[in-house]
Amino acid sequence: MPQTVCLIPGDGIGPEVAKAMRLVVDASGADIEWKIVPAGVEAAEQFGAFLPKITIDAIREHKFAIKGPISTPVGKGHTSVNVALRKGLDLYAAVRPVRSMPGVKTRFENVDLVIIRENTEGLYSGIENEIVPGVVQSLKITTRRACERIARFAFDYAHQRDRKKITVFHKANIMKLADGLMLDCVRAVHRADPHGIDYEELIIDNGCMQIVRDPTKFDMLLLENFNGDFISDLAAGLVGGLGVVPGANIGDDCAVFEAVHGSAPDLAGKNVANPLALIMSAVMMLRYMDQETVAVRIRNAYDETLSEGDPAELTRDLGGTASTTGFAKALVRRLERGD
Ligand code: NAI
Repeated sequence: MPQTVCLIPGDGIGPEVAKAMRLVVDASGADIEWKIVPAGVEAAEQFGAFLPKITIDAIREHKFAIKGPISTPVGKGHTSVNVALRKGLDLYAAVRPVRSMPGVKTRFENVDLVIIRENTEGLYSGIENEIVPGVVQSLKITTRRACERIARFAFDYAHQRDRKKITVFHKANIMKLADGLMLDCVRAVHRADPHGIDYEELIIDNGCMQIVRDPTKFDMLLLENFNGDFISDLAAGLVGGLGVVPGANIGDDCAVFEAVHGSAPDLAGKNVANPLALIMSAVMMLRYMDQETVAVRIRNAYDETLSEGDPAELTRDLGGTASTTGFAKALVRRLERGD
């Protein structure tokens, strides 16, 4: 029986990159069938909710989903569908591998980082209020339960993937209680860790400076939610941008895979966005589903395409002229040739 995967096309460039990802995954021989589920602007128009219950129920039932980005209005309007999805399904660990890609020229070579971001609390609690006109507060919620489980997740991940070191970026010098609690929990998990994984802590401002000077000295980063959000984009910039960084949101019961990037309104509808980050997210998903052979085939297809560096096969963000679908078709050609 093929594994059913829920597909949320998303907003902005979402439907374009989702279509391209699907073309590639279908050509790879992956043993899956798609179930399209709604979320975002179109879902609100059709179902009266940005994140309809049928979507949450379908992901709970089938366990796996992959999604295009979903827009969140700035400073007003509805709350984030992405945050609601992560909280609603308790997808507490965001996993974002950031690696140098063959043929993609950047300031650094041999970057190979994994960012683990706590995905359910911190400033993303979404609890904000105006106390009196002109004075607002946003609550940063930190719980021992969430800190302990993300710490355990990170150390387990490091052990399973043969990673050597975990660095926590924090701001416990200022947020002594919130980030202090996180550090206490991670230190406890580190002390109990039987696998000898190295551990270090850096105040995040220093961490930012060090990572842009030399990202190769980091192996895994562990961050609370808010810090993890912007460090993920910063790290993407070190290896070629948001078009090349995949991601997964993992919980105990289900997992939702998505690129780090957003809906890129500046590119939407033009068929120019790079679908690679979502294709890489699909590769993460296939591995997670134990479909390693097809995952490797897709990875070889994009590694080869990038290495060859034919501008006609690369999207604009990587210096080429290919459209979103053009890039996907270049991968499909390789998959069909059996490269
Ligand atoms: P963004 O990631 O959409 O775009 C940032 C920059 O990267 C833009 O210049 C864009 O053109 C470029 N970019 C993004 N993805 C690209 C791709 N695949 N190929 C080539 N270039 C790409 O971030 P921004 O502008 O801050 O957010 C836009 C919207 O996306 C907002 O509504 C935001 O809330 C939402 N968003 C959604 C996310 C999700 O669904 N997980 C994550 C981040 C943002």
